[in-house]
Amino acid sequence: MRKGLFISIEGSDGSGKSTQIENIKLFFADRGIDIVFTREPGGTVIGEKLREIILDKELTEMSDMTEALLYAAARAQHVRQVIKPALAAGKIVVCDRFADSSIAYQGYGRGLGEPVSIINGFAIDGCIPDVTFLMKMDPRVGRRRIRAEQQDRLEREQDDFHIRAFEGYLALEKRYPQRIVGIDASRGIEEIKLDIYKKLEEVLQSVPWQISGK
Ligand code: TMP
Repeated sequence: MRKGLFISIEGSDGSGKSTQIENIKLFFADRGIDIVFTREPGGTVIGEKLREIILDKELTEMSDMTEALLYAAARAQHVRQVIKPALAAGKIVVCDRFADSSIAYQGYGRGLGEPVSIINGFAIDGCIPDVTFLMKMDPRVGRRRIRAEQQDRLEREQDDFHIRAFEGYLALEKRYPQRIVGIDASRGIEEIKLDIYKKLEEVLQSVPWQISGK
């Protein structure tokens, strides 16, 4: 029997992902269920150090492949140090971004394509989310919500990069309809929350796995 439950949240920058992550945390807290919340890039000391490098807006010379490998390196550490042990202990893991981000941003956005899937195959070591919420919103609208001086190296990229990444997300949603739950993120916060809560209720009722922390 597989233990634990792995939930990831994806979406373009400025799509309201952070607000809904707070709602997801509340969903579980209200039910007295402990979760392990974590994020990418990051989630470990090594991952957070890599995050600083990856998102540093001064490092404009970074090659696209370097970027893809750094995200994957942070993920490899995260999977082995945090995610797999938590799932093995029967925990619910909620992760702000995971490998789909690399497929979308580096595979489609940077145009690196298939090598990104191959690299990430090594990084995730068979660890695939059970459910992925994809916040769908025109990335041009989302990015306008982020003040220029607050934008990191990725957010500073042109609209066409973010549009390609978004198209990558849509391709993933088509390819993995069982796992990826598309959420129309152009609606109001409460409406979006209700959609997510409905799906979470369904998931909790249907999980054949043993969940600890309740
Ligand atoms: P965040 O702002 O949601 O924390 O994400 C940081 C940025 O990193 C965001 O612009 C998306 C980008 N990203 C990738 O390009 N590839 C990845 O694999 C991940 C996890 C994030």
